[in-house]
Amino acid sequence: MEPSRRAQLEAWLRYADELGLGPFYLHRVPQAAPESVRSPDSPSVTTAAETRSFAPEVSSQSTGAGAASRTPVMPPASRPAATSTFLPSLAGTSLFEERVDNDSLERIRADIGPACTRCKLHQSRKNIVFGVGSPTAELVFVGEGPGHDEDLQGEPFVGRAGKLLTQMIEAMGLRRSEVYICNVVKCRPPENRLPEKDEIATCSPYLIRQLAAIKPKVVCCLGACSAQTLLNTTQGISRYRGEWFDYRGARLIATYHPAYLLRNPGAKSDVWKDLQKIMAVLGLQPKRR
Ligand code: URA
Repeated sequence: MEPSRRAQLEAWLRYADELGLGPFYLHRVPQAAPESVRSPDSPSVTTAAETRSFAPEVSSQSTGAGAASRTPVMPPASRPAATSTFLPSLAGTSLFEERVDNDSLERIRADIGPACTRCKLHQSRKNIVFGVGSPTAELVFVGEGPGHDEDLQGEPFVGRAGKLLTQMIEAMGLRRSEVYICNVVKCRPPENRLPEKDEIATCSPYLIRQLAAIKPKVVCCLGACSAQTLLNTTQGISRYRGEWFDYRGARLIATYHPAYLLRNPGAKSDVWKDLQKIMAVLGLQPKRR
């Protein structure tokens, strides 16, 4: 599209959005996949098993984890989105490929505002859960949407699934404060249901701006909702979990949601493999036990 026409159209869309007339753009996520599992509604109860290290069986001495991180190995070349037959529309035109000049997390938060009513999730939420962590993080985790605890505290991933995510981060040799953590939708869906198409379409532009402002090296999608949103696909996560994709200058990998792991602990080994791939890219050493 001709740049001045595009700028005009974008300005008009922003104006319409502020008036609450949007969204006018394509719904890019027809249906969340069954693999995406919401965190439990109930307040956190951390079990003994959950308080153990995320990767207790894996010693940095005896596995590929240590080896991979001692000698960082770049993953195989990402499939170019434009030519992928698997995720056909990643390179498709989205009105939200726009870049906001001098964008920052503060500005995005201010644009959302303290009392956003752009989608119906505002009716039942207590707090907008914008995101937390380093604004210059090399690694961003993207979840689905706030649950009960997150809604109360205004911070993502603080419930049971969040504690597991923190363990995963620490197992990678990082602190939670060194990464950035956010969600596709910033307000809790009632009863922890999956975010709906219109809610994702309304809120995901802010996620996309967050990622553009942070400019991480790696984006790790936690669960199908975020993977499908950012990869613009309806494919189930198990089809591409652990594979690398190009995402607007970053590498993107999808893995299972921590809430799924709470219900299916057997999948932890798959997730640990995915985290090791990220560690290799970032040159991280696993946490020594
Ligand atoms: N599940 C998510 O997807 N995000 C959170 O912040 C908490 C649980």
